[in-house]
Amino acid sequence: MQQGFPKDFLWGASSSAFQIEGGWDEGGKGKTVADFNSFKRSDKQADSKVASDFYHHWKEDIALMAELGLKVYRFSISWARIVPDGDGEVNPEGIAFYDQVIDELIAKGIQPFVTLYHFDLPYALVDKYNGWADRRCALAFERYARICFEHFGDRVKYWQTINEQNLMIRVDERMNIYVDDPLEADRLRAQMDYHIFLGNALASVACHELVPGGKIGPAVSSTCTYPLTNRPEDVWAARMNDYLKTGYALEMYRYGSYSDLYMRYLEERDIVPKAFLGDEEILKAGVLDYLAVNYYRTLCASALPADEEHPAGSRVYRGNEVDFDQYGWCRDERNENLEASEYGAQIDPMGLRIVLNDYYMRCRVPMIITENGLGAPDTLGADGSVHDPYRIDYLRQHIEACELALGDGVPLMGYSPWSAVDLLSSHQGFRKRYGFIYVDQNDQQTGTLDRYPKDSFHWYKKVIATNGADLA
Ligand code: BG6
Repeated sequence: MQQGFPKDFLWGASSSAFQIEGGWDEGGKGKTVADFNSFKRSDKQADSKVASDFYHHWKEDIALMAELGLKVYRFSISWARIVPDGDGEVNPEGIAFYDQVIDELIAKGIQPFVTLYHFDLPYALVDKYNGWADRRCALAFERYARICFEHFGDRVKYWQTINEQNLMIRVDERMNIYVDDPLEADRLRAQMDYHIFLGNALASVACHELVPGGKIGPAVSSTCTYPLTNRPEDVWAARMNDYLKTGYALEMYRYGSYSDLYMRYLEERDIVPKAFLGDEEILKAGVLDYLAVNYYRTLCASALPADEEHPAGSRVYRGNEVDFDQYGWCRDERNENLEASEYGAQIDPMGLRIVLNDYYMRCRVPMIITENGLGAPDTLGADGSVHDPYRIDYLRQHIEACELALGDGVPLMGYSPWSAVDLLSSHQGFRKRYGFIYVDQNDQQTGTLDRYPKDSFHWYKKVIATNGADLA
């Protein structure tokens, strides 16, 4: 049985392009769907134009990451920096930007761990094809992935295809789904989801072809749902909430096909996606080398029967787009046994142990955590200090859960929490912070952009230096 953390455990920290880079139209970069969405909200909160300005602070940030002792840095390449219009000319300035970032990381002893696509589809592909609605988007993704493998594959060995496809697909604005009829919206969603799986598989095959020793896999947004009661119907509902939001995707990544149960769901709702002859071979050839898990919180569900007015599979949104109810399957509930963060995330370290064991049993591949963290509005003191004991507590308990999972036999390669530097929240501006390093930026975008290590930085530095032995 594994005691403590393995010698070569990958202690890391994570980020994504649109949330840290800024320089949104510099260096030849094209607009992305993430830019488009964030600009819509820019009167109330920060957008992706400047973000943490990593585009101009990368050297300083990497120096801080080295001081922190990171073994690995998980970040994403912006597709629209490499291919501004999604499937046309390659932008040499974009290549040069990531070349210098990758070289600097390696020079500082930090292994780059690169996500190819993190919520930021080039907007030109929306204009041309309505994005993932069209199979050509999957081919464009494969082409872009090949460009990255050819340029960076000599130095980058860990690749992540797509961040949280299973969550992204539920969020209409990330997918550019603007359809009034809910059934049509779900039909489009199912088709897009399928095309993304295809793109994922094509990119995985290309990685093995072009990157010697390369490993590639997706990151899933984990959902661990508890039944509201021990009524068998509630237990089934909780399982189905997990299954329809994550389990079906794990099966596709692992086996290259949808299960009979998932097909029944698609058929019942009459939203089966169109496939081409030969797709099955592509999907089966492109299965994952490892599974990355993004974990923040757990969920709770009860049964919600369908009725005449509410056909099986139809959705009810109450508050947010990711935790909806589905008639005939499950209803989202609050778990009274858990405390929630200021932003409503139900904090649950035990859930991480459950997720790691559960996903390992399903996929039987090495695993890594590429996101985990606590979003909170930190305060910068006059002396440049940031006291974030709540974040240290959260991370400590989740690292303990990783250690337990390792002891359970889960081959966990690393832990790369969210986030290295403070960054733009995916949809809640700059007040909600996750970083080990405070960035003087705000929702009015008037900050100095200076960097300040938080208390959690000094704490995590010690955790890494002792390979997880000292969590005090
Ligand atoms: C994950 C995303 O789902 O959650 C990140 O991959 C995101 O991009 C993170 O930032 C935290 O969510 P939020 O909304 O608090 O930024």
